Amino acid sequence: MLERLQKIISAAGISSRRASEELILAGRVTVNGIVVNELGSKADPSTDTVAVDGKSLTIASKKLYILLYKPVGYLTTLDDPEGRPLVTDLLKEVGERVYPVGRLDYNTEGLLLLTSDGEWANQLMHPRNEVEKEYHVRVRGKVHKSQLDQLADGVEIEGRKTAPARVSMIKEGEQNDWFSITIHEGRNRQVRRMCEAVSLSVVRLRRVRYGMLSMGALKPGEFRFLTAAEVDGLRNPHQKQVASASKTSAKTKSTT
Ligand code: URA
Repeated sequence: MLERLQKIISAAGISSRRASEELILAGRVTVNGIVVNELGSKADPSTDTVAVDGKSLTIASKKLYILLYKPVGYLTTLDDPEGRPLVTDLLKEVGERVYPVGRLDYNTEGLLLLTSDGEWANQLMHPRNEVEKEYHVRVRGKVHKSQLDQLADGVEIEGRKTAPARVSMIKEGEQNDWFSITIHEGRNRQVRRMCEAVSLSVVRLRRVRYGMLSMGALKPGEFRFLTAAEVDGLRNPHQKQVASASKTSAKTKSTT
């Protein structure tokens, strides 16, 4: 089926539709070896070879949408010169290349989406989409109300204030307190840096909700496929939360 070139390029996860248009206009896109630099040009991804800067795009025939409980000690990058474990190592049985939607730090655990649908991933990560992400944070010592208030109002990281967040205390302990923070931005190491800004030392960080998706029955290292309703729901920025993960059984056993 013929599709617009910018749609094919963004579906392959190379860039957003707008940025794909710029690639086309810049003459960096070829179809079957011929430069196509007119917007509106079409190709058939199942029969034509579309390339950007000479590199052919890999176009998944069937799109995959996966929710993984990333354990601590796994990288969300696709390779590591130091040979550390990668989240994709946990998805070998899927048998197709999938890419993380955004990132979680090596030492952060919790919900991570992976997909072969680059356009969907770009939509979710676009700041306009404002998908809510909730984290449970365990800190060394006590959390004071004034610190939670500052986090909720927004703190300055790298010269720019964070957007208002929802915060609440979860549990107070002898050595550690736990609190919840919900943000919709996706700045690098955002929660850890927000905590640093109010002098809180994070000892554990877990993403427990991504938009409408909560952890449900997933254990570290386990994953499940999203339902069609969940895939569509995440495109919609103001989705309702459903404990959807609990309705579906996990597909693999924990590796930890
Ligand atoms: N915030 C962080 O600091 N780290 C993560 O992995 C995710 C959000």
